[in-house]
Amino acid sequence: MSDDQLPPSSPHPASGRTAARTAAVIPAAGRGVRLGPGVPKALRTLGGTPMLIHAVRAMADSRAVSLVVVVAPPDGAAEVKSLLDAHALPDRTDFLVVPGGGTRQESVRLGLDALPPGYDIVLVHDAARPLVPVDTVDAVIGAVRDGAPAVVPALPLADTVKQVEPAAGPGEPESVVATPDRSLLRAVQTPQGFDRATLERAHRTVKDNVTDDASMVEQLGRAVVTVPGHEEAFKVTRPLDLILAEAVLARRRLNDGF
Ligand code: C5P
Repeated sequence: MSDDQLPPSSPHPASGRTAARTAAVIPAAGRGVRLGPGVPKALRTLGGTPMLIHAVRAMADSRAVSLVVVVAPPDGAAEVKSLLDAHALPDRTDFLVVPGGGTRQESVRLGLDALPPGYDIVLVHDAARPLVPVDTVDAVIGAVRDGAPAVVPALPLADTVKQVEPAAGPGEPESVVATPDRSLLRAVQTPQGFDRATLERAHRTVKDNVTDDASMVEQLGRAVVTVPGHEEAFKVTRPLDLILAEAVLARRRLNDGF
């Protein structure tokens, strides 16, 4: 095992070592075109608060997370900085804002480039998943601390999934070519958690366009494991998701008594 393959250190009182410090990178530079016209998706409000602020709070709620790096729309870093200044966030967490890129992958890489030394565990969390519960965040961090180089929260699928061939033209039917065994499929969420050296190597090495960071680690041939995801960690993508997110928030507020 080479140095950069070693798992991050775990809390080990007997050896006097401290727990690996954890930072979260939040890519928030997407336009969110599937939600319809308007401001960038991360700046849309839920319960009167921008989605991005919910996502930042979801990471900062974990006592293990001591730095949050927000990757803003390329021309929106100043706006995002003032948004963070204007909302109450925990004192024990530091925040950085950097401008993002043209793809999610590039935005995450720009966030990683801004990470100071001393953080050995990195979470990557979509701003578009504002309601992930802290227990899910802590489960991901715990599995990385236990030695997994890459961890994804995952849920079984409700729907049967078909693999299709691309249609011959717009409006033409697609041919179904396979029905993968649903019991072996998982829908994965964020935050995804990584040993920092492994994630940085993945971003240096893998050039294909991918939709999540764990698949880059898979391409390196390193192990990726799952922890249970949560139905409230869903991604706000389409207009119906906004309605669901508002309903989840309203229920939380009722349960919290405010
Ligand atoms: O487009 P998608 O829903 O997959 O985006 C997932 C996350 O990646 C969102 O939080 C979005 O803001 C972010 N993103 C980004 N930079 C891009 C495109 C997407 O930070 N160029």
